[in-house]
Amino acid sequence: MFIHSSYYILLTVLARTVYGFEYRFDDTLRFSSASTAPEVEPNFTNTQALASDDNYCLVFEDHFNTFDLKNWQHEISLSGGGNWEFQYYTNNRSNSFVENGILYLKPTMTSDTIGEEALKNGGRMNLYSGSPSEDCTGKGDLILHKSTMANVKMHVEYAFLDNSNYGCERISGAAADGNYLNPIQSARIRTIDSVTLKYGKVEVRAKLPTGDWLWPAIWMLPKYSAYGSWPASGEIDILESKGNVRYTHGNTSTITSTLHWGPNTFQNKYMLTTEQMMAKRGTTWADDFHTYGLEWTKEGLRTYVDEDTILQVDFDRTSWQRGEFTKPTMNPWKGGDISAPFDQEFYLILNLAVGGVNGYWPEDESKPWQNDDPHAPNAFYNAKKKWLPTWGKGNKRALAIDWVKMWSTETNTCASRLKPYKAL
Ligand SMILES: *[C@@H]1O[C@H](CO)[C@@H](O)[C@H](O)[C@H]1NC(C)=O
Ligand SMILES: *[C@@H]1O[C@H](CO)[C@@H](O)[C@H](O)[C@H]1NC(C)=O
Ligand SMILES: *[C@@H]1O[C@H](CO)[C@@H](O)[C@H](O)[C@H]1NC(C)=O
Repeated sequence: MFIHSSYYILLTVLARTVYGFEYRFDDTLRFSSASTAPEVEPNFTNTQALASDDNYCLVFEDHFNTFDLKNWQHEISLSGGGNWEFQYYTNNRSNSFVENGILYLKPTMTSDTIGEEALKNGGRMNLYSGSPSEDCTGKGDLILHKSTMANVKMHVEYAFLDNSNYGCERISGAAADGNYLNPIQSARIRTIDSVTLKYGKVEVRAKLPTGDWLWPAIWMLPKYSAYGSWPASGEIDILESKGNVRYTHGNTSTITSTLHWGPNTFQNKYMLTTEQMMAKRGTTWADDFHTYGLEWTKEGLRTYVDEDTILQVDFDRTSWQRGEFTKPTMNPWKGGDISAPFDQEFYLILNLAVGGVNGYWPEDESKPWQNDDPHAPNAFYNAKKKWLPTWGKGNKRALAIDWVKMWSTETNTCASRLKPYKAL
């Protein structure tokens, strides 16, 4: 998601490594070579071989018959995903819930919870909690400052700040330089404490939302940031889209896959590893469910939707070579595999963001805020008569997920995940 938060760093260092057996394993699960046979190296150029179940073991699946928060940990944050997006992420069944076997990540108006007056003036949201399952996850956030940069439309600078006033606590009105509180309430969930993957396959059956300025995403971040802070340790965006039906810079007819990587935030070479795909003529990605997937081996990485490849990156040279970086920049991937930083454990994230000022929403006459406006959320909220009617009715404004599956190709992972097995 472009400039995402590195704000898991503190958490991940402390996080437990839980490779539990609390996941539902399919009894029909097929293990091919788990511990005895020689390791079968999937051949990336031969997608048939890669796609064959024999090279994989299922390590995670969720069909959303219930919303199991052992599988999914909520983000609880006002930080706006590192991009000054306009939503507040919370664990609220209005924003993340299961209905008839489908998980919905759905935006609502923050004013429904705290009232419009508090949203605009004199309000305070404090997400700190004594209870670990309810505490703010936005601590130690990456704060994005805005100004102008020569080669990008918008100028960004970074600093790690004590984020108590941004990610975990915010106020509105005069005391906050006239800013509103985050006008949208939404959800971002992740598997950081339940399952991570290094080489394997991910599939998510999903239907995208309709509505101006909605930003759905299915993506992965590194659990341990082995090569340093974002984007040095990488980011895998399997899917990003835009809920606008009409918007020149992307809409419900376009989906994008991207890898983010670079020795530092200013040398993120994602432009070399991003691809867009259009929906078939007369259709949008919000009409139906599709299977969004990732195949990932030591040889390369491929994202796809149903039968069609979106992005393919062969790991035929190091990221340092691919990015044509030179001294005096430090090479963070020394000592990693040729696929570094994509040779580490990543966890899955599903979210629905709204707006933001990082450049994901280029200026356009239809856009109610300017990316360089320090009060962008106010401008967005004040134009709600324009965008709210475009949001799909009921759950059509939500990112809908039918199921999620993750498979590993790592012999060790597969072996360690073998349940004491009755059938064998
Ligand atoms: C991978 O598959 C291709 C096509 O089937 C084949 O030509 C190639 O030799 C294989 N490479 C390896 C390393 O097995
Ligand atoms: C959850 O969100 C709804 C509004 O959509 C609000 O009425 C309710 O108070 C929220 N619950 C909590 C615990 O904040
Ligand atoms: C949707 O976005 C694509 C890609 O950015 C663009 O080419 C197309 O014109 C847009 N369509 C509409 C209806 O806005």
